[in-house]
Amino acid sequence: MKIENKNNKTNNPSPFRAGANKLSTHHLLGIKDLTVSDIELIFKTADNFKDIINRPIKKVPSLRDITIANLFFESSTRTRVSFELAEKRLSADVINFSSSGSSVKKGETLIDTVNNILAMKVDMVVMRHPAPGAAHFLSKNVNAKIVNAGDGTHEHPTQALLDAYSIRQKFGKVKGKKVVIVGDILHSRVALSNIYCLKKLGAEVMVCGPTTLIPKYIDSLGVKVENNLRKALEWCDVANMLRIQLERQDIKYFPSLREYSMQFGLNRALLDSLKKEIIIMHPGPINRGVEITSDVADSKQSIILEQVENGVAIRMAVLYLLAGRQEEN
Ligand code: CP
Repeated sequence: MKIENKNNKTNNPSPFRAGANKLSTHHLLGIKDLTVSDIELIFKTADNFKDIINRPIKKVPSLRDITIANLFFESSTRTRVSFELAEKRLSADVINFSSSGSSVKKGETLIDTVNNILAMKVDMVVMRHPAPGAAHFLSKNVNAKIVNAGDGTHEHPTQALLDAYSIRQKFGKVKGKKVVIVGDILHSRVALSNIYCLKKLGAEVMVCGPTTLIPKYIDSLGVKVENNLRKALEWCDVANMLRIQLERQDIKYFPSLREYSMQFGLNRALLDSLKKEIIIMHPGPINRGVEITSDVADSKQSIILEQVENGVAIRMAVLYLLAGRQEEN
Protein backbone atom coordinates (compact mmCIF):
# COMPACT_ATOMS: atom_id res chain seq x y z
CA MET A 1 0.00 0.00 0.00
CA LYS A 2 1.41 3.39 -0.99
CA ILE A 3 0.66 6.79 0.44
CA GLU A 4 -0.54 8.69 -2.59
CA ASN A 5 -1.52 12.29 -2.94
CA LYS A 6 -2.50 13.55 -6.35
CA ASN A 7 -1.30 17.04 -5.28
CA ASN A 8 2.29 16.03 -5.28
CA LYS A 9 3.10 12.69 -6.81
CA THR A 10 6.80 13.31 -7.31
CA ASN A 11 7.55 14.81 -3.92
CA ASN A 12 5.81 12.07 -2.01
CA PRO A 13 8.16 9.14 -1.56
CA SER A 14 7.04 6.37 0.73
CA PRO A 15 9.08 6.47 3.96
CA PHE A 16 8.96 2.69 3.97
CA ARG A 17 11.52 0.42 2.46
CA ALA A 18 11.87 -3.34 2.58
CA GLY A 19 11.68 -4.74 6.09
CA ALA A 20 11.00 -1.41 7.77
CA ASN A 21 7.31 -0.95 7.06
CA LYS A 22 5.63 -3.45 9.35
CA LEU A 23 4.32 -3.23 12.86
CA SER A 24 5.09 -6.19 15.09
CA THR A 25 1.42 -6.42 16.07
CA HIS A 26 -1.88 -7.07 14.25
CA HIS A 27 -3.90 -4.83 16.58
CA LEU A 28 -3.19 -1.68 18.59
CA LEU A 29 -4.34 -2.72 22.04
CA GLY A 30 -1.80 -0.87 24.17
CA ILE A 31 1.64 0.72 24.17
CA LYS A 32 2.87 -2.13 26.34
CA ASP A 33 2.74 -4.45 23.29
CA LEU A 34 4.65 -2.10 20.95
CA THR A 35 8.38 -2.23 20.28
CA VAL A 36 10.51 0.90 20.00
CA SER A 37 10.73 0.21 16.24
CA ASP A 38 6.92 0.13 16.05
CA ILE A 39 6.69 3.54 17.72
CA GLU A 40 9.41 4.99 15.49
CA LEU A 41 7.66 3.60 12.39
CA ILE A 42 4.35 5.16 13.50
CA PHE A 43 6.10 8.52 14.03
CA LYS A 44 7.84 8.39 10.63
CA THR A 45 4.55 7.52 8.95
CA ALA A 46 2.77 10.30 10.86
CA ASP A 47 5.42 12.78 9.64
CA ASN A 48 4.37 11.97 6.06
CA PHE A 49 0.67 12.20 6.82
CA LYS A 50 1.13 15.47 8.70
CA ASP A 51 2.74 16.88 5.61
CA ILE A 52 -0.14 15.64 3.46
CA ILE A 53 -2.97 16.95 5.67
CA ASN A 54 -1.44 20.41 5.63
CA ARG A 55 -1.80 20.57 1.85
CA PRO A 56 -4.88 22.05 0.14
CA ILE A 57 -6.11 18.56 -0.82
CA LYS A 58 -5.83 16.55 2.37
CA LYS A 59 -7.18 13.22 1.20
CA VAL A 60 -5.21 10.16 0.05
CA PRO A 61 -6.65 6.91 -1.33
CA SER A 62 -4.60 4.64 0.94
CA LEU A 63 -7.57 2.95 2.69
CA ARG A 64 -10.05 3.03 -0.19
CA ASP A 65 -12.30 -0.08 0.04
CA ILE A 66 -11.47 -0.55 3.73
CA THR A 67 -14.45 -0.12 6.10
CA ILE A 68 -13.81 0.98 9.66
CA ALA A 69 -16.34 0.93 12.50
CA ASN A 70 -15.87 3.40 15.35
CA LEU A 71 -17.55 1.83 18.37
CA PHE A 72 -17.83 4.21 21.31
CA PHE A 73 -19.30 2.78 24.49
CA GLU A 74 -18.08 5.81 26.47
CA SER A 75 -18.12 9.58 25.87
CA SER A 76 -15.45 11.14 23.68
CA THR A 77 -14.90 14.33 21.72
CA ARG A 78 -11.26 14.47 20.60
CA THR A 79 -10.54 10.76 20.03
CA ARG A 80 -13.76 10.08 18.19
CA VAL A 81 -13.56 13.08 15.87
CA SER A 82 -9.84 12.54 15.34
CA PHE A 83 -10.26 8.88 14.33
CA GLU A 84 -13.15 9.73 12.01
CA LEU A 85 -11.15 12.49 10.33
CA ALA A 86 -8.10 10.23 10.04
CA GLU A 87 -10.22 7.51 8.41
CA LYS A 88 -11.85 9.97 5.99
CA ARG A 89 -8.50 11.54 5.07
CA LEU A 90 -7.37 7.98 4.18
CA SER A 91 -10.54 7.44 2.06
CA ALA A 92 -11.86 4.61 4.24
CA ASP A 93 -15.60 4.00 4.54
CA VAL A 94 -16.64 4.87 8.08
CA ILE A 95 -19.51 3.88 10.33
CA ASN A 96 -20.02 5.35 13.77
CA PHE A 97 -21.70 3.47 16.58
CA SER A 98 -22.42 4.62 20.10
CA SER A 99 -23.93 2.41 22.77
CA SER A 100 -26.66 4.91 23.62
CA GLY A 101 -29.64 4.19 21.40
CA SER A 102 -28.23 0.80 20.33
CA SER A 103 -29.31 -2.77 21.05
CA VAL A 104 -26.62 -2.95 23.76
CA LYS A 105 -29.36 -1.39 25.89
CA LYS A 106 -31.49 -4.50 25.20
CA GLY A 107 -28.88 -6.84 26.67
CA GLU A 108 -26.79 -7.76 23.62
CA THR A 109 -23.22 -8.89 24.42
CA LEU A 110 -20.16 -7.01 23.16
CA ILE A 111 -19.14 -9.97 20.96
CA ASP A 112 -22.63 -10.26 19.43
CA THR A 113 -22.78 -6.51 18.78
CA VAL A 114 -19.38 -6.48 17.09
CA ASN A 115 -19.92 -9.69 15.12
CA ASN A 116 -23.19 -8.29 13.75
CA ILE A 117 -21.37 -5.14 12.63
CA LEU A 118 -18.54 -7.23 11.13
CA ALA A 119 -21.08 -9.33 9.20
CA MET A 120 -21.75 -6.16 7.18
CA LYS A 121 -18.18 -6.50 5.80
CA VAL A 122 -16.36 -4.21 8.21
CA ASP A 123 -12.55 -4.63 8.25
CA MET A 124 -11.34 -2.73 11.30
CA VAL A 125 -12.80 -1.72 14.64
CA VAL A 126 -11.82 1.32 16.69
CA MET A 127 -13.31 0.90 20.16
CA ARG A 128 -13.59 2.95 23.33
CA HIS A 129 -15.04 1.00 26.24
CA PRO A 130 -15.32 1.64 30.00
CA ALA A 131 -14.01 -1.86 30.88
CA PRO A 132 -10.22 -2.28 31.22
CA GLY A 133 -9.16 -5.10 28.88
CA ALA A 134 -12.20 -4.77 26.58
CA ALA A 135 -10.02 -4.27 23.49
CA HIS A 136 -7.85 -7.33 24.33
CA PHE A 137 -11.00 -9.37 24.90
CA LEU A 138 -12.45 -8.31 21.56
CA SER A 139 -9.23 -9.05 19.68
CA LYS A 140 -9.36 -12.65 20.89
CA ASN A 141 -13.03 -13.17 20.08
CA VAL A 142 -13.74 -11.49 16.72
CA ASN A 143 -12.11 -11.55 13.31
CA ALA A 144 -11.05 -7.94 12.71
CA LYS A 145 -8.20 -5.57 13.43
CA ILE A 146 -8.87 -3.84 16.74
CA VAL A 147 -7.65 -0.37 17.72
CA ASN A 148 -8.05 0.55 21.37
CA ALA A 149 -9.39 4.11 21.68
CA GLY A 150 -9.30 3.89 25.49
CA ASP A 151 -10.34 1.00 27.73
CA GLY A 152 -11.41 2.13 31.19
CA THR A 153 -8.47 2.88 33.49
CA HIS A 154 -6.13 0.68 31.41
CA GLU A 155 -4.60 2.15 28.20
CA HIS A 156 -5.16 4.90 25.62
CA PRO A 157 -2.39 4.10 23.14
CA THR A 158 -3.07 6.67 20.41
CA GLN A 159 -3.17 9.45 23.04
CA ALA A 160 0.27 8.40 24.33
CA LEU A 161 1.62 8.21 20.78
CA LEU A 162 0.39 11.69 19.91
CA ASP A 163 1.72 13.04 23.22
CA ALA A 164 5.20 11.59 22.67
CA TYR A 165 5.08 12.70 19.02
CA SER A 166 4.27 16.26 20.17
CA ILE A 167 7.25 16.21 22.57
CA ARG A 168 9.47 14.94 19.71
CA GLN A 169 8.15 17.74 17.51
CA LYS A 170 8.90 20.37 20.17
CA PHE A 171 12.39 19.18 21.19
CA GLY A 172 13.50 17.11 18.18
CA LYS A 173 13.70 14.01 20.39
CA VAL A 174 12.04 12.33 23.36
CA LYS A 175 15.12 10.57 24.74
CA GLY A 176 16.50 12.28 27.83
CA LYS A 177 13.54 14.63 28.27
CA LYS A 178 12.06 14.93 31.76
CA VAL A 179 8.28 14.59 31.75
CA VAL A 180 6.04 14.91 34.80
CA ILE A 181 2.47 13.61 34.63
CA VAL A 182 0.37 15.46 37.20
CA GLY A 183 -3.00 14.49 38.65
CA ASP A 184 -5.21 11.46 38.92
CA ILE A 185 -2.66 8.80 37.97
CA LEU A 186 -4.69 6.03 39.62
CA HIS A 187 -7.66 6.27 37.25
CA SER A 188 -5.84 7.47 34.14
CA ARG A 189 -5.33 5.31 31.04
CA VAL A 190 -3.49 8.30 29.56
CA ALA A 191 -0.95 8.17 32.39
CA LEU A 192 -0.26 4.44 32.03
CA SER A 193 0.10 4.57 28.23
CA ASN A 194 2.27 7.70 28.48
CA ILE A 195 4.55 6.05 31.03
CA TYR A 196 5.02 2.97 28.78
CA CYS A 197 5.60 5.09 25.67
CA LEU A 198 7.93 7.70 27.18
CA LYS A 199 10.01 5.07 28.98
CA LYS A 200 10.38 3.02 25.78
CA LEU A 201 11.60 6.17 24.01
CA GLY A 202 14.17 6.95 26.72
CA ALA A 203 12.47 9.82 28.56
CA GLU A 204 12.68 10.26 32.32
CA VAL A 205 9.18 10.12 33.80
CA MET A 206 7.80 11.40 37.10
CA VAL A 207 4.26 11.24 38.42
CA CYS A 208 2.90 13.88 40.79
CA GLY A 209 -0.36 13.99 42.71
CA PRO A 210 -1.95 13.21 46.05
CA THR A 211 -0.66 9.89 47.47
CA THR A 212 -4.23 8.56 47.29
CA LEU A 213 -4.23 9.03 43.49
CA ILE A 214 -0.86 7.33 42.88
CA PRO A 215 -1.23 3.56 42.26
CA LYS A 216 0.54 1.23 44.73
CA TYR A 217 2.29 -0.59 41.82
CA ILE A 218 3.88 2.65 40.54
CA ASP A 219 7.44 1.60 41.54
CA SER A 220 7.25 -1.36 39.14
CA LEU A 221 6.88 1.11 36.23
CA GLY A 222 10.28 2.72 36.87
CA VAL A 223 9.03 6.28 37.37
CA LYS A 224 9.83 8.89 40.02
CA VAL A 225 7.09 9.94 42.43
CA GLU A 226 6.70 13.47 43.82
CA ASN A 227 3.87 14.85 45.92
CA ASN A 228 4.99 18.47 45.71
CA LEU A 229 3.98 20.16 42.46
CA ARG A 230 6.58 22.94 42.67
CA LYS A 231 9.41 20.40 43.06
CA ALA A 232 8.03 18.37 40.17
CA LEU A 233 7.87 21.44 37.93
CA GLU A 234 11.40 22.51 38.89
CA TRP A 235 12.60 19.04 37.77
CA CYS A 236 10.78 18.70 34.44
CA ASP A 237 11.00 19.90 30.83
CA VAL A 238 7.36 19.00 30.18
CA ALA A 239 4.33 18.93 32.49
CA ASN A 240 1.37 16.85 31.31
CA MET A 241 -1.61 17.95 33.39
CA LEU A 242 -4.45 15.43 33.84
CA ARG A 243 -7.98 16.05 34.98
CA ILE A 244 -9.49 14.39 38.02
CA GLN A 245 -11.59 11.49 36.71
CA LEU A 246 -14.59 11.95 38.99
CA GLU A 247 -16.65 9.55 36.86
CA ARG A 248 -14.33 6.68 37.91
CA GLN A 249 -14.20 7.60 41.61
CA ASP A 250 -16.77 6.02 43.90
CA ILE A 251 -14.99 7.20 47.07
CA LYS A 252 -13.36 10.51 48.00
CA TYR A 253 -9.59 10.66 47.38
CA PHE A 254 -9.10 14.25 48.61
CA PRO A 255 -11.22 16.65 50.67
CA SER A 256 -12.47 18.92 47.86
CA LEU A 257 -11.68 20.03 44.30
CA ARG A 258 -10.75 23.44 45.74
CA GLU A 259 -8.12 21.86 47.98
CA TYR A 260 -6.87 19.70 45.10
CA SER A 261 -6.54 22.77 42.93
CA MET A 262 -4.60 24.67 45.62
CA GLN A 263 -2.10 21.80 45.96
CA PHE A 264 -1.88 20.41 42.41
CA GLY A 265 -3.40 23.03 40.10
CA LEU A 266 -1.03 24.78 37.69
CA ASN A 267 -1.43 28.57 37.57
CA ARG A 268 0.46 31.46 35.99
CA ALA A 269 2.12 32.61 39.20
CA LEU A 270 3.58 29.16 39.85
CA LEU A 271 4.75 28.80 36.25
CA ASP A 272 6.34 32.27 36.25
CA SER A 273 8.15 31.58 39.52
CA LEU A 274 10.13 28.70 37.94
CA LYS A 275 13.70 29.46 36.86
CA LYS A 276 13.14 27.95 33.40
CA GLU A 277 10.41 27.72 30.76
CA ILE A 278 8.64 24.38 30.59
CA ILE A 279 6.16 22.97 28.07
CA ILE A 280 2.57 22.39 29.18
CA MET A 281 0.46 19.51 27.86
CA HIS A 282 -3.05 18.24 28.57
CA PRO A 283 -4.87 15.35 26.86
CA GLY A 284 -8.28 17.01 27.35
CA PRO A 285 -10.98 17.44 28.33
CA ILE A 286 -9.69 20.34 30.48
CA ASN A 287 -11.38 21.31 33.72
CA ARG A 288 -10.31 24.95 33.66
CA GLY A 289 -9.59 26.32 37.11
CA VAL A 290 -9.08 22.85 38.64
CA GLU A 291 -5.89 21.19 37.30
CA ILE A 292 -4.90 24.17 35.12
CA THR A 293 -5.93 27.82 34.89
CA SER A 294 -7.09 29.30 31.59
CA ASP A 295 -4.11 31.66 31.30
CA VAL A 296 -1.75 28.65 31.45
CA ALA A 297 -3.85 26.42 29.17
CA ASP A 298 -3.98 29.17 26.54
CA SER A 299 -0.39 30.38 26.99
CA LYS A 300 2.53 30.18 24.55
CA GLN A 301 4.03 27.41 26.68
CA SER A 302 0.96 25.25 26.11
CA ILE A 303 1.01 22.76 23.20
CA ILE A 304 -2.47 21.43 23.92
CA LEU A 305 -3.91 22.22 20.48
CA GLU A 306 -0.75 20.94 18.76
CA GLN A 307 -1.41 17.63 20.53
CA VAL A 308 -4.92 17.59 19.05
CA GLU A 309 -3.59 18.45 15.58
CA ASN A 310 -0.97 15.71 15.78
CA GLY A 311 -3.62 13.20 16.83
CA VAL A 312 -5.04 13.02 13.30
CA ALA A 313 -1.66 12.24 11.69
CA ILE A 314 -0.83 9.67 14.38
CA ARG A 315 -4.19 7.92 13.94
CA MET A 316 -3.81 7.96 10.15
CA ALA A 317 -0.41 6.30 10.62
CA VAL A 318 -1.77 3.64 12.98
CA LEU A 319 -4.72 2.76 10.72
CA TYR A 320 -2.58 2.76 7.59
CA LEU A 321 0.07 0.48 9.10
CA LEU A 322 -2.46 -1.93 10.61
CA ALA A 323 -4.38 -2.16 7.33
CA GLY A 324 -1.12 -2.88 5.52
CA ARG A 325 -0.62 -5.93 7.70
CA GLN A 326 -4.13 -7.01 6.92
CA GLU A 327 -3.54 -6.87 3.16
CA GLU A 328 -0.52 -9.13 3.41
CA ASN A 329 -2.31 -11.91 5.34
N1 CP B 1 -8.07 12.83 25.24
C1 CP B 1 -9.21 12.17 25.08
O1 CP B 1 -9.26 10.93 25.07
O2 CP B 1 -10.31 12.97 24.92
P1 CP B 1 -11.78 12.46 24.61
O3 CP B 1 -12.27 11.73 25.84
O4 CP B 1 -12.58 13.70 24.31
O5 CP B 1 -11.71 11.51 23.44
